[in-house]
Amino acid sequence: MKREKIVLAYSGGLDTSVLVRILSTDYGYDVVCCHADVGEARDAKALTDRAKAAGAIAMEMVDAKEEFAKDFCFPALQANALYEGVYPLSAALSRPLIGKHLVDVAHQYGATAVAHGATGKGNDQVRFDLAVKGLDPALKIIAPQRERNISRDEAMDYAAKHGIAVPTTRKSPFSIDENLWGRSIEGGVLEDPNTEPPEEAFAWTKSWQDAPAEPGLIRIGFEAGYPVSVNGEKLSPARLIARVGEFAGLHGVGRIDLMENRVVGIKSRETYECPAAVALIAAHQDLERFTTLGLSARTKGQLDSTFAQLTYDGFWYSPLRSAIQAFNDEHNKFVTGEVTLKLFKASLRVVGRTSPFGVYNKLLSTYGREDKFDHRAAEGFINLLGLQLQEYSRLHGGGA
Ligand code: ARG
Repeated sequence: MKREKIVLAYSGGLDTSVLVRILSTDYGYDVVCCHADVGEARDAKALTDRAKAAGAIAMEMVDAKEEFAKDFCFPALQANALYEGVYPLSAALSRPLIGKHLVDVAHQYGATAVAHGATGKGNDQVRFDLAVKGLDPALKIIAPQRERNISRDEAMDYAAKHGIAVPTTRKSPFSIDENLWGRSIEGGVLEDPNTEPPEEAFAWTKSWQDAPAEPGLIRIGFEAGYPVSVNGEKLSPARLIARVGEFAGLHGVGRIDLMENRVVGIKSRETYECPAAVALIAAHQDLERFTTLGLSARTKGQLDSTFAQLTYDGFWYSPLRSAIQAFNDEHNKFVTGEVTLKLFKASLRVVGRTSPFGVYNKLLSTYGREDKFDHRAAEGFINLLGLQLQEYSRLHGGGA
């Protein structure tokens, strides 16, 4: 009998290698592996060999770095998206992209199902599942790890028993997820909320002690809310993120320690290093403040937090997220210019900005002699502004 096909989100690690075999023998599928590279620098050849050796009938490698940068990271940047005010959503942004490629590959191969290796207690399962439901609700979703809760030791035993090649690199004491927008580090000593993350948890950011003794300046150019250049040099989205990340990481900028609320209700201690995202969001936010009105900025602030929450919760492919993005594109129409950041020993400050559209008129704001503001107009303005307060106070004898 002809077997149905399933497309598995394949990372190349022990867990997903074991899943190839489990999906094939226990679930009865022909397994197509799909790996979307979002900037974590895996060896493509080794990955393909390992997938095939584990029993995959095919392996689809997608270089998704530019797509991830342009269609996922940059819209999140336009939204200044920080979950719970601090986490730039690096892992959360990559799941809908991987989900989209799973669905595309499923269509390409005529597969009836997709699979992923996310556990039942994390956010990633929610993001994968909702991405697939949002893109093709007819596809079946299988998550063996969620169904069986396979431990690391069990996976090792299974791999040894079935002759499945596992990565030879020494296993880090942490669970890592990384892409252009950031790196998340979980597990081990980090599970004690009161233990400072050890230096070896970090790979992209220097400690403040090891950061250069002199401050560094970086100038980021934007067009309509999207970053386009670094120190005057035009760069593609993925290269720009990598460039900013390297510089910020060198200066120790971007480490984050968050007591985080997961979608499934678990509180967890999360450690991140997101040097590019932290620097770019600071720059974008500043240029937005310079070039847009307070009136619209206040509404955008509320939508920004909704955008972050939707992304975290897996609702990337939702009409609300698309609508907010349309608002952001309109709001960012004139967010064009350059922002200078000064980085020094793990700190970051905006120290300058220029734009042809800065809503700033020195003749109005100055305290100097060239002042053109009509000071007397303020009195009538305040008289009307305070009228209701004045009447209330007259009636009740002052006070609130
Ligand atoms: N807590 C973060 C998030 O939900 C990080 C998740 C990292 N995923 C992983 N499989 N290690 O976005």
